[in-house]
Amino acid sequence: MSTTGPARPNTRKLLIRTWGCQMNVYDSGRMADILAPLGYAPTESAEEADMVILNTCHIREKASEKVFSDLGRLRETKKARAAEGRETVIAVAGCVAQAEGAEITARAPWVDIVLGPQTYHRLPEMVARASRAAGAVIETDFPAEDKFDHLPEARGPQGPVAFLTIQEGCDKFCSFCVVPYTRGAEFSRPAAAILAEARQLAANGAREIALLGQNVNAWAGASPDGNSWRLARLLRELAEIPGVARLRYTTSHPRDMDDDLIAAHGEIPALMPYLHLPVQSGSDRVLAAMNRGHKADLYLRLADRLREVRPDIALTSDFIVGHPGETAKDFEDTMRLVEQVGFAGAYSFKYSARPGTPAAAQPGAVAEAEKDTRLQALQALLRQQQDDFNRACVGRVVDVLITGTGRHPGQVAGRSPWLQPVHAPLAHGGAAPVGAVVPMQLRATHPNSLSATMVLPEESAAA
Ligand code: 5AD
Ligand code: SF4
Repeated sequence: MSTTGPARPNTRKLLIRTWGCQMNVYDSGRMADILAPLGYAPTESAEEADMVILNTCHIREKASEKVFSDLGRLRETKKARAAEGRETVIAVAGCVAQAEGAEITARAPWVDIVLGPQTYHRLPEMVARASRAAGAVIETDFPAEDKFDHLPEARGPQGPVAFLTIQEGCDKFCSFCVVPYTRGAEFSRPAAAILAEARQLAANGAREIALLGQNVNAWAGASPDGNSWRLARLLRELAEIPGVARLRYTTSHPRDMDDDLIAAHGEIPALMPYLHLPVQSGSDRVLAAMNRGHKADLYLRLADRLREVRPDIALTSDFIVGHPGETAKDFEDTMRLVEQVGFAGAYSFKYSARPGTPAAAQPGAVAEAEKDTRLQALQALLRQQQDDFNRACVGRVVDVLITGTGRHPGQVAGRSPWLQPVHAPLAHGGAAPVGAVVPMQLRATHPNSLSATMVLPEESAAA
C-alpha cells in the first residue's frame, strides 16, 4: 500500500463528535483532513481513539452542558487507556471552546487542547505540543490571517452532497446570540477560492453543494474581476461548474436578502426551491428588543417576493419564544406571522440566557412554564404546516438526488428539492447510481421521509 504525504503508519485513531450547525459538520471534516497526514484514521469508538475532538456548539445552554457531561465520561476512558499504557489526547473545539476556554480547562483539567474555530489549521502543531506539554494548550485568538488558506484541499472521494463554507462570523449582534462573540466579525472568503473548492468538490463527485455561513447571504467577497461580488453573482458562477446540479445556501438573515438574490431564485435552475430564513419572532416590539433590524412586515414581503419568482419555494425558519419582555400579545403576533407565511419546517426554541449577551441583562424575564406553553402552541402549528406541506407533495413527480441505498434491500435513498428524505424501490430496469438525479413520483408521507417510485425514461418521455 502506498500513502501520500509524510510516511507515517496509519496506526492512530481519531474520534470527532460534532454538535450544532452545518458549519461545525464542515469544520469537523476539515479537521479530519488536517490530521489524516499525521496518521489519524477515523473511529466511532472512544475506547479505541488516540485522539478525541469534541466540536461543540454554544448557542443554547443545553448544548454546552452536554459537552461537560461528555468530558466527564471521557475522563474515565482516558484513565482506563492510561492504565493500559495508551495515551489519549482530548481536544475541545468549536464555539464552547471559543467562549469558555479557561473554564473548560478549570472544570476539566484532563482536556489537552482547547481550540477556537479560527485556529483549526494549527491543529497538527497543537497535537505535537500537547504530547510534550504538562498543561493544556489553548488557542482561541481571532488571528487576522485567513484560516482557510492553511487548510488542505478537501479530499476525495466525495459523496454527492457537499458543504462549502463561504462566510464566517456575524456583525449583527442579535440581543440573545453568542455567535458574534464566539465566531467573531463577518469574514467572506474570496470568490476565486470558493470557485476553486467547488470545482474540486464537483470533480470528486459532489452534485449538490450547500454554501455555509452564519450569515451566508451577507457574503461579499473579492472577485476575480477586482470588484466585490454579492451572493447572487457567486451562485450564478457556481451554477456554471460542470457536475454541479444543485445549490443551496444557509443560514440567511432577512436584512441581507437583496433584490438580486431574490431574482436569482427565479433565474438559476440549480438553485433549489428551498430557503431557511430565520425570523425569530412575529412581533415588532420583540424584534426591536432582539436587535434584529427588521420588522415583521419585511419578512412577509420577502416571502411574497420569493414566491412570485419561485412559486414552489419552501420556506423554513427559526423561532425563539419567551425572549425577555415578550408578552402574550407579542406571542400571538408570532403565531399570526406563521399562519400568514406557511412554513415547510422550522426550528423553535425557548429563550435561554447566554452569559455576556445583551438580552441576559434585559428586564421582563418570561416564566419557564409560560415559555413551555407558548413553545408547545407554536410547535403544534409548525408541525401541522410541515405535515400539510409534505402531504401536498404526494402525487407530484420531482427530481430526487440519489444519496445511497435505503434501509431495506433493493431500496434507494435520496433527497427532494425541498430537502425531504425520499426512499424508493429500485425499479426493474431502472438504474439509480449514487449522485444521479432521477425523476420520482412521490407516493406517501412517513414520519421522517417520503416514499416514492422511480419514473422510468419511457414514462417520463410519454408524460
Ligand atoms: N436562546 C434560544 N434560542 C437561541 N438561538 C440562538 N440563541 C438562542 C438563545 N439564547 C436560536 C435562534 C437561532 C438558532 C440557531 O438558535 O433561533 O436562529
Ligand atoms: Fe446570531 Fe443574529 Fe448573527 Fe444570526 S444574525 S448569528 S442570530 S447575531
